[in-house]
This record gives sequence, structure tokens and C-alpha cells, in this order.
Amino acid sequence: MRFSFLTLLCGVIFFPSIFSTVLAEEPAPRPQYLGPTQVVTVPPDDASCYVLCQDARTGSVVNGEAQPTMTMLPGVSGAVIFRDAKLVATTFGGANGKVKLGVTLDDAGREIPVGHTPLSPVFSADGTTLFVPCRFSNDIAVIDVAKGEVIRRISTVREPIAAALTPDGKTLVVANHLPSGRADTFDISAAVTLVDTTTFEATHVRLLNGSTGLRDVAISPDGKYAYIPHILARYQMPTTQLERGWMNTNALSIFDIGAKKLLNTVLLDDVDRGAAVPWGVAVSADGKTVVVTHSGTHEASVIDIAGVLEKIAKIPQVAPPYDPNKPYDDRGNFSSPSQADIPNDLAFLVGLRTRVPLPVVGPRGVTIVGSKAYIAGYFSDSLAVIDLTANPLRRGVTEIALGPKPVIDQVRQGEIFFTDAALCFQNWQSCTSCHPDARTDGLNWDLMNDGLGNPKNNRSMLLAHVTAPSMWSGIRATAEDAVRSGIRHIQFAVRPDEDAQAIDAYLKTLTPEPSPRLVNGQLSEAAQRGQTIFEKEKCNICHPAPLYTDRAMHNVKTRAKLDRRDDFDTPTLVETWRTAPYLHDGRYATMRELFEDGLHGLNEKLSEQELSDLAEFVESL
Ligand code: HEC
Ligand code: HEC
Repeated sequence: MRFSFLTLLCGVIFFPSIFSTVLAEEPAPRPQYLGPTQVVTVPPDDASCYVLCQDARTGSVVNGEAQPTMTMLPGVSGAVIFRDAKLVATTFGGANGKVKLGVTLDDAGREIPVGHTPLSPVFSADGTTLFVPCRFSNDIAVIDVAKGEVIRRISTVREPIAAALTPDGKTLVVANHLPSGRADTFDISAAVTLVDTTTFEATHVRLLNGSTGLRDVAISPDGKYAYIPHILARYQMPTTQLERGWMNTNALSIFDIGAKKLLNTVLLDDVDRGAAVPWGVAVSADGKTVVVTHSGTHEASVIDIAGVLEKIAKIPQVAPPYDPNKPYDDRGNFSSPSQADIPNDLAFLVGLRTRVPLPVVGPRGVTIVGSKAYIAGYFSDSLAVIDLTANPLRRGVTEIALGPKPVIDQVRQGEIFFTDAALCFQNWQSCTSCHPDARTDGLNWDLMNDGLGNPKNNRSMLLAHVTAPSMWSGIRATAEDAVRSGIRHIQFAVRPDEDAQAIDAYLKTLTPEPSPRLVNGQLSEAAQRGQTIFEKEKCNICHPAPLYTDRAMHNVKTRAKLDRRDDFDTPTLVETWRTAPYLHDGRYATMRELFEDGLHGLNEKLSEQELSDLAEFVESL
């Protein structure tokens, strides 16, 4: 997500010195990238598709193989959805996100304020209502299309990022990007939110333990299943190796919408080659084929989903007891699997899926138009087109340029490396697998840098390069050290230092997203009271503005059973509204719990109201 300095300056004026630090470096003007992220079909004939370019905030209409025509949508940043040829909804902006309802793409239309970072708008079946997941408001804005206003908000779990409606219009399926809850347990997962579109009641259903990094959802034409690609993290394991998906696997969850439960989760990796960072998903009109993009390996998986469903159905829910007279199954495999084994089977999709290398870099959103899958190539400013009718082994894949070939500068190269699984042994993961959008996955990982058996909560990359030392244990002197250790000791790759330098350059450009707690870019009244408490309690001794860390290690009596030390790196408080759970071991799901439970002895000194106000202030930074 990109914000101009101007937007940021308006948004967060109460700590301008962060920006003077950033601005002091006076970055060279950067090339303008298109950054295509989403592709949708254009009614009435659905023969062409619209490509939304996140970075250039424009879009193009692509019609067959012809040269794409640019249809400008100045400022567009989120997503586009067509109701029909006469109504289109487009989302704009971050903190002050809006939806525009127009007759055509370039129609000025009506603007409706909706919330923080609106994405993936979806019309109700009759077109009278528009549902808009707002990622950082953490809810869904429900808009009455005729009135042009938000009529209610439906809470989600954490960062609703994509949504789709069942064909009967009865259920909205929403993918929550990250897990919520404390991370020092061994059961944590992102959830799917199901909204009943008549009662607006929401049900949240967790996916398998370790599910994180959801980006997209697609629904089968019969309305039975939702397909959701995501990372299946094996965070319980020490990060000692990568083979066979030891750290991160890449998966497709098949969700049974009617039963409101997960049918199963299949792995998209091969036994010796990961299919890193799954992103977009689309289903063919006949429901038989599902296409998933892999932004880390620049591929698409073309999946015979009918075959997958059939295969799952044939496997017993519970494994039959061992039969000494028949120790091998019909395929000659030892043991009798049950459906619970499927999420660990790296060979499950053999014969049911083709891995298609794409000519684009960083594939994201996908849509199927007729017999062709159109895939947004984020870093190459182009589209990949897969002909789904061609022989799977000689599948015709072409590329359509959306503009001139982008000139990749060092920062962009760094962003590519950060997401590229080529920097990882056997392509199992990239930095983004654990640091989505260069932030955190909300999980605890047992990295080897501070010894085994003491998992630590993940950390954001924001301000990492100006808040040395790095890691909760301060074991890495600088973020530069941490970047190189990440490549070497987490991704087990040997790369030239220029790659790490590019990643440093990219991470240094990150700027804080304005907090959803701010009111018109300013501290709320509660947060202002919290600020007074923050100063009175001398929090700023260790958390001084503008970075909100003194960059030193302190013992604040948070040592837990598994820890081998008393002191931890003072974390920056900037953007902590986004980085739950809290403390080095992620033991607190919310800021409120952290303070209530007595971090820094606060519960003994402050009233309930004061604790709330303080939390409100910290979450506004
Ligand atoms: C398997 C998950 C995982 C992967 C993959 C991963 N990291 Fe991390 N990273 C972590 C965790 C967990 C921490 C915090 C650990 C701690 O503080 O002890 C961390 C911390 C960091 C930090 C220090 C932040 C700070 O301010 O303390 C940097 C920088 C970093 N990672 C960069 C990278 C880069 C670059 C890559 C890709 C080459 C990468 N990471 C890949 C899990 C991961
Ligand atoms: C003596 C230095 C010191 C003072 C004073 C201090 N902190 Fe901290 N703070 C720390 C350290 C060190 C940690 C990390 C502890 C850990 O992870 O176990 C921390 C952690 C936190 C966290 C968790 C952040 C995260 O990302 O997990 C918050 C929030 C916080 N402090 C707020 C405050 C507030 C509010 C005050 C004032 C009431 C305060 N701190 C005073 C040193 C300090």
C-alpha cells in the first residue's frame, strides 16, 4: 500500500518528526509503476476484463488480444465491481476510504465514505445493497445503493480483505487476512466470516491451525464451496529446516458454505518444491476448474477441483482400524489415510493440478473470461493469459503488456526480492510469507538466533532500520543484519549482498499507515486523555516520540517460563494498532488486556477508564 508523503502529513500531523527523519534522506524521484492487482470481467457480455492498477491508481480494459485501452479511474486504490453494464462500484483511498457508485467506469458517480482501506466490494443479488469489507476498520460497511449511504456495519475478525457472494445471494463469504488472539498457544488461525444477507448476522469460522495470509475468495457456481488460498504455517516447529514444508506450506482451503465448516485443506506445494505465497483465486463457469496464483513463484495452479472433491469424498472421515490382511490400500500405499491426513499430504494434488509458470512477475488477482484465465502481474505491469482449453502440459500462456516495460529501481527490486521465493531453498516461502505487506503474520516463531525452545512473536518491518537493535532479544545489532540472517538462516539461501541491499532500500521506504482510531487524522478525545497519562506515567522515558522507542533493552518483568533472559528490546509503539498480539511472546491479544494484566504495573496505578484511554492513545500512533 502506497501513500504520498502529503497524505501522511495530513493524516498524522501530531508526530511530524518521523517524517523529517524519513524526508531527510530526500529520495530520488521513482519510476511510476502500474502495479496491476485485480482483474474483473466487464458486463454486459463479460468478454473483456478490467485490470485495476494499484500503484498508478488507474485501470485498463483488456479486450481479447487487442492492445489494452486505458480507462482512467484517477485515485482508484482498492477494487472495482460491476453490478451490470449500468452500475459499477469502485473503492478509493486508505484511512478515509470511499466507495464510488457510478453508471460507468469513468463516471464521477456518488461518493460515499465507508471506512479504513475498503476492498473487494460486492453487490447483493438484487443490486440494492453493496457490501464493502474495510480492512483496517475491521468490519463490513453495508451500503443502501438507492440512498447512497452506509446503513450498518458488520464486525469481522481481523483485516477482512476479500469477499464473494453465493449465487443465490444468501451468504457473503469474507476472508480475514490474519489470525487474531494470543500467539503463545499452539492453536491459532485466521477465520472466514459468513454473513447472512437477510439478517446481517455474522458467523466466524476458523480455518486449520496455522492458517494465515488470506488474500482472496471465490465461490463455486453451485454455491456449495468457497475456495480460499492461504499460507498454512507450521509455526510449532523450530525453524531448523525447510524440507517438506517444515516452516510454511501453501494451501487451498475448501469451505463448505451450507454446513458452515471447513471441508478440507489441500497443499499446493510439491514434496520438494514449494508454491509460495498463494494470492488470487477464480473458478471456471462450469465449476470444474480452479485457478490459484502463486505470487512468490510466479506461477498459477490450474486445479481439477471436481477431481479433488471426488478424491476427498472417497477418503474416510476416520481412518479404519489397521487390517493385517490388507496393510496396503488400492494404490499400493501403506496405511489407511483419513481426511485429517489430507492437509499434510504434499502429494495429494498429484495428477489433479498443473503448475503453470507465468511470464509475469508477482502474479496476484485472477479472473476467468470464457476459457481464459487473466492474471495480474504486479511487478511486470502486465497480464498473463492462460488458455484453459489447451493441453495442460503445453498450455498456451501469453503475456499482455499494460504499458511500457517497467524500469526496476533498487527499491522496487527490493520489494520483488522480499516477495520472491527464488530467495528461498526449494521455494517454500519468501519474506512476505511471515511478513505480509512487510508487517507481521501474528504468529510466534521459534527462530534459531536466540536458541531453540523460546518462540517469539513476529515483528513488523516498519521503522526496523531506524530502531536498532533488531529482534526482541536484540540479538541482531541492526535490521541490515536481520535481513541477511533472514535470507541465510530462515530461507537457507546464499545470495549476493546486493539482494539484501535492495531489500534494505525497500524496507526503509515503508511509512506508517494512519491508525483507524484517529478521527479526521487527529487524536480522539479519549486518545488525548491517554496521551496525558502516557506523559504522566513517564512512558516516554523508554518510548519517546517520534519513534516511540529508546532503542534499548530493558527488564520490565515480562520474563516467562520459556525465556532465557530478563531484558527485551523496547518495541516502537508506532502502528501497534496493527501488530497484535503483544509482548515478545505474543501473550496478549489486545492492548487493553496487556495493560489490564499489569504491564509496567499499570493496573495498580490507573482506573479502568484511564487504562482504556491509554490503550486508545497507543493504538492511535
Ligand atoms: C518463518 C517466518 C519468517 C520468515 C520467512 C522471515 N522472517 Fe523475519 N522475522 C520473523 C520473526 C518471528 C521475527 C521476530 C523474531 C524475534 O524478535 O526474535 C522476525 C524479525 C525480522 C526482522 C527484525 C525486525 C525488528 O525490528 O526487530 C527483520 C529485519 C526481518 N525479520 C526481516 C526478514 C527478511 C528480510 C526476510 C526474508 C529474507 C524474513 N524476515 C523472513 C519471522 C520470519
Ligand atoms: C523501562 C522502560 C519502559 C517503560 C518506562 C515503559 N515501557 Fe513499554 N515496553 C518496554 C519494553 C522493554 C517492552 C517489551 C517487553 C516484552 O516484550 O516483554 C515494552 C512493551 C510495551 C508494549 C507492547 C508493544 C508490543 O508491540 O508488543 C506497549 C504497548 C508498551 N510497552 C506501552 C508502554 C506504556 C503505555 C508505558 C507507560 C505506562 C510504557 N510502555 C513504559 C519498556 C518500557
